[in-house]
Amino acid sequence: MLKKLAITAVAALTLSAGGAAAAGGENHIEDVDFSFEGPFGTFDQMQLQRGLQVYTEVCSACHGMKFVPIRTLADEGGPALPEDQVRAYAAQMDIYDPELDDMRPRTPADHFPASGLAAAPDLSLMAKARAGFHGPYGSGINQFFKGIGGPEYIVSILTGYTGEEKEEAGTTYYENTAFPGGWIAMAPPLAGEDVEFADGHSNELHHEATDVAAFLMWAAEPKMMARQHAGFVAVLFLSVLSVLLYLTNKRLWAPVKKKAKEA
Ligand code: HEC
Repeated sequence: MLKKLAITAVAALTLSAGGAAAAGGENHIEDVDFSFEGPFGTFDQMQLQRGLQVYTEVCSACHGMKFVPIRTLADEGGPALPEDQVRAYAAQMDIYDPELDDMRPRTPADHFPASGLAAAPDLSLMAKARAGFHGPYGSGINQFFKGIGGPEYIVSILTGYTGEEKEEAGTTYYENTAFPGGWIAMAPPLAGEDVEFADGHSNELHHEATDVAAFLMWAAEPKMMARQHAGFVAVLFLSVLSVLLYLTNKRLWAPVKKKAKEA
């Protein structure tokens, strides 16, 4: 019986090890310390504003964010732009209005535009749709300690180009150490010094990539802070409740145990 169990366990481990290695490939994801990690993490308002700038000036040429309402740019805990700036930002982008049967400037009540380039995926939920960390061996322990790794995946994609290119069936592919399979159809969008930040923050490649990844994390999960804090309060509450229940239990059974001892 024991021998059978041991054989099964070894077989399962080797199988999942092989599977994980095959699925994980050699793609390299770098761990980034974001301000929003951990139970007390918060989004960095200035970083979100810088990320919005990178998104607007670079990524939005191809990618859309059609699930994100523009008005959320004014939200507390998010980029928290003043209302008039949000209105001005929205007005730069046109939208087709079926009631007018014409184009009109967007208002904060509209969403961001959809992707202009069909091959470029929508970025609204990208930071939650991808996992940067896996394993070991399918256990998910890495995700427990480092997080799922969505924003880290985005940083690693943006900084992971090797400079190698190849053409296949009329499409150019760029070698990328983070992209599964190693070749991505997106030309390197950032080279460093692509935007000029108003707050004087460094615009080196890695900074730009981290800022836009943080912004996309906020876009995908604007209520993350509220969720983390509610979770923390729930854990605290459950801990106190466990102690109380333990003491109640002891007290309830005390007379019975006493009788048992006497008998
Ligand atoms: C010139 C057009 C273009 C620009 C500009 C661009 N992208 Fe892309 N992006 C693409 C295309 C095309 C793909 C699909 C690539 C593929 O599937 O091989 C893509 C894919 C992606 C992916 C998805 C990778 C995956 O796992 O599927 C991410 C993340 C991404 N882009 C982020 C960005 C960010 C952030 C910016 C701005 C800094 C940006 N892109 C700018 C065209 C662009």
